[in-house]
Amino acid sequence: MKIGSVSENQKTEKRISITPEIAKKYKSLGLDVYLSKNYGAHLGISDKEYVNLGVKFCDDEKEVINLSNIVVQLGLLSDDKSSFLKEDQTLIGVLNPYDNKKKLDELKNKKIKLFSLELLPRITRAQSMDILSSQANLAGYKAVIESFANFEKAIPMMMTAAGTIPAAKILVVGAGVAGLQAIATAKRMGGIVFATDVRMASKEQVESLGGKFLTVEGAENLETEGGYAKEASDDFKKKQEELLSETLKKIDIVICTALIPGKKAPVIIREDMINNMQAGSVIYDLAAIQGGNTAFTKVDEIIQKNGVKIMGESNILNKLPMSASSLYAKNMFNFVENLFDKENKKLNFNLEDEIIEKTLIK
Ligand code: NAI
Repeated sequence: MKIGSVSENQKTEKRISITPEIAKKYKSLGLDVYLSKNYGAHLGISDKEYVNLGVKFCDDEKEVINLSNIVVQLGLLSDDKSSFLKEDQTLIGVLNPYDNKKKLDELKNKKIKLFSLELLPRITRAQSMDILSSQANLAGYKAVIESFANFEKAIPMMMTAAGTIPAAKILVVGAGVAGLQAIATAKRMGGIVFATDVRMASKEQVESLGGKFLTVEGAENLETEGGYAKEASDDFKKKQEELLSETLKKIDIVICTALIPGKKAPVIIREDMINNMQAGSVIYDLAAIQGGNTAFTKVDEIIQKNGVKIMGESNILNKLPMSASSLYAKNMFNFVENLFDKENKKLNFNLEDEIIEKTLIK
């Protein structure tokens, strides 16, 4: 069995799916590893480092794709590269089936097996494969770093002979994986942290990190059985708006992370709320790519509104691609290992395994 990966479009994606550490693990599992030339060069990983571990390099990407029984990537391959895939090959990545339905249908018709890792069930056994968590955790951390870098005051309280600088107040909207890491990071740097979420379970988690949870009065718990958020009712939205309008007047930095799977991100921070914020405040919107949690978010732009900076990026993980690749590649390895029948040295598409059944694009 052969596993391979080719370079992503590095203008938009700097992460890689097979790091040297993971190439070694595939080899010990009994898989041959094939990569395209300069696969990790942009991250300072030379082809030689891989070759020393027994990885083989091909002259062109077509050869890597043709040779590999399993192709592992970040996103879906570009049209020209996916045209090299043929019957019985397996492609694994974050294939975004909501947006790429047509392309994925074409590949399915060519009898290519497709697995999309964002469809993993959130069960204990799948935690080591959970790319959404590993990447959201890093995104939450980096969003805080980016917003602090754009804030023109200090974060921790400082008492000096020249006077006292007050601690910055940070609000995290959405306390899932990214939000909780944002809270922890902001706390570690000396901020005073507030957070809100539609899922009541998150209150305890926020408080355990030293954050103050803002509860929307009289709100029902908007959590699905899978642990995700449900779309809020108009009544909830109104109460949340009132709560946040008041809070935002005193907040310096907002980290937005609110998402509803498969839907556009909810617009939570409206124009009038931004107008009431203090000039110099910063909003980092991690939901930007799904439409944004503010009325003004524009992907990869810093918008200035009444002195408030609003920012969000298409791929914040490109700002820490080494850490992100290291976790992504490990998640991917754990997924492939679960799919691999070690005795017979072949993939076992056991649809009774919830992990395999849920991630297979049917
Ligand atoms: P997500 O990325 O889909 O959403 C981010 C957060 O935004 C969520 O906490 C969500 O409740 C919140 N949100 C949505 N709409 C909102 C609104 N209008 N106002 C305020 N907040 C809003 O979610 P994520 O981070 O992927 O995690 C969601 C859940 O999955 C959590 O309960 C987490 O503990 C659970 N989880 C379970 C895992 C497992 O293996 N058992 C692994 C990872 C997460």
